[in-house]
Amino acid sequence: MISIVGSGKVGSAIAFLCVSNSLDDVLLVNRTKDKAIGKALDISNAIPENSNVSIHGTDDFSKITGSDIVVITASTGIYLKSRTELMDAQVKMIQEIANQIKKYCPFAIVLIVSNPLDVLTFVFQKETQLSRNKVIGIASSLDSSRFRYLLSEKFRIKQSQIIDALVLGEHGDSMVPIFSRVKINEKNILEIIDEAEKQTISTEIRDYWKSLRILGSRSQFGIAKNTFDVIRTIIKNDELIIPASIVLNGEYGEKDISMGIPIKINKAGVKEIIEIKLNESESNLLKISAQTIRDYIKSL
Ligand SMILES: NC(=O)c1ccc[n+]([C@@H]2O[C@H](COP(=O)([O-])OP(=O)(O)OC[C@H]3O[C@@H](n4cnc5c(N)ncnc54)[C@H](OP(=O)(O)O)[C@@H]3O)[C@@H](O)[C@H]2O)c1
Repeated sequence: MISIVGSGKVGSAIAFLCVSNSLDDVLLVNRTKDKAIGKALDISNAIPENSNVSIHGTDDFSKITGSDIVVITASTGIYLKSRTELMDAQVKMIQEIANQIKKYCPFAIVLIVSNPLDVLTFVFQKETQLSRNKVIGIASSLDSSRFRYLLSEKFRIKQSQIIDALVLGEHGDSMVPIFSRVKINEKNILEIIDEAEKQTISTEIRDYWKSLRILGSRSQFGIAKNTFDVIRTIIKNDELIIPASIVLNGEYGEKDISMGIPIKINKAGVKEIIEIKLNESESNLLKISAQTIRDYIKSL
């Protein structure tokens, strides 16, 4: 069973992908019970005719017992200026949710989607003391999708022509697009892009969420698909390499924070942490990003 805590825009979109692809039974857990039940009622119509999966809604955490995967998409409100705006309330919320998960399904793999992503992933792991291989913050893969999309628009090429467009570090203003590894039609991007263009694209990735808001939209389907890919990998015992936030223990020279780095995921959660080569400027930016997250954690 897949339990999804928070059945707002993101949680319901993930649930829709899971049941419409017959991945597994889904339980929506929401603060307001009726919303979970209502969303489940709607999404249940997307279950294919020959499928055995089900979807239900509740506000009762005890029903998550036996879940293989718990996805946290809960939010106490909607931030307007920065992902860290609601930090205190979000930290309190994740601590409460962590205690419920520890009580009812301590062996689940937990995917964190709620913001501020890296801080919440760190706090959740510390609060539950689950293995750090079983607590994964999903966001850097979304930032990387945005990087790929913006490059495809800039160069008027298909996304399939772009390789290794990764964004690492904080899911926030200090995120680090890794230009040095990007290949476009097998050519290193640094041969065709200058510093000013790099800065423009970096700003566009960082402020992508603001562009969505200006257009009356909010991040929903992109993050849902990136999260669904991880859920499917775990359930189907497949392998997937993506950048995601995990608690670091010396990797990339960092510890006592959670931050987006490339990892290999399989049915056990994080199978491998991949340390890729970065150039000096990217390494420095990643250090600044790590320090930004550390400062947030220290401020709690
Ligand atoms: N990682 C990423 O890349 C990424 C991308 C997009 C969004 N996000 C984050 O994902 C989160 C969800 O976004 P959204 O747009 O889906 O928000 P949303 O539509 O406001 O939904 C949040 C839901 O969480 C529920 N909730 C609040 N506290 C809860 C608790 N303690 N237990 C269970 N449910 C609880 C709310 O219930 P009520 O019905 O009672 O209000 C609401 O239904 C936000 O933190 C957002 O910033 C992250």
